[in-house]
Amino acid sequence: MESLSLSSTAALAAIEAVRRHFAARLAARRETPAITKELENVLSLLGTVDFSRVDEACLRASGHPVIRQLRQTGIHGGDASSAAVLDAFLPHLDALPWRYSYDPRPDAPDIGERMAWAELVGPIAPFHSNRVCLGLTAIGPHLLYPPHRHPAVETYLVVSGSADWTAEGIARTHPPGALILHPANIAHAMETGDEPLLAAYAWTGDVETLSAYLSEA
Ligand SMILES: [Fe+2]
Repeated sequence: MESLSLSSTAALAAIEAVRRHFAARLAARRETPAITKELENVLSLLGTVDFSRVDEACLRASGHPVIRQLRQTGIHGGDASSAAVLDAFLPHLDALPWRYSYDPRPDAPDIGERMAWAELVGPIAPFHSNRVCLGLTAIGPHLLYPPHRHPAVETYLVVSGSADWTAEGIARTHPPGALILHPANIAHAMETGDEPLLAAYAWTGDVETLSAYLSEA
């Protein structure tokens, strides 16, 4: 595998793009009270991270196969509001530290090759925090990310691709620019169609307990 590392400058620029986007959404005062509260929480916790210290080992790229699928399908781009976030990540897709940490699923043996996430802030990330995570999730086309849950509160910002998002049994199609809040421990799932999905995410609360699938389909 080709050895690639994300530069800390690029990682910081991507984090800053998400941070600025969240701040702009708050300033516009159009989000629900729950999303507003969580965006304030994420920004406050990001303010506690020491961005002068970087774990170089966590900047190393994984060479994840989902990147090849994104390139084959094409990344469809987003809306104007989230374009700066997409632009901050896009040149560095090959260099991001992608991972997939669920146990294998016999009913979806290749899922770990078709989706992944790259964490830039978190317990195992270039910039360390046990209180907040920030990263990018990538899901290849025509894939169900099966129902799962985690104790962390999760905020997603869709930056490319319209997918079907289900939370507590309610399904919605969310386009680029959408903010999606998953309260702690709720069951949620995503399903892509022709377009792959790229979505920035933040976790707060218990960020050390991994997400787990609810059951096999
Ligand atoms: Fe989640």
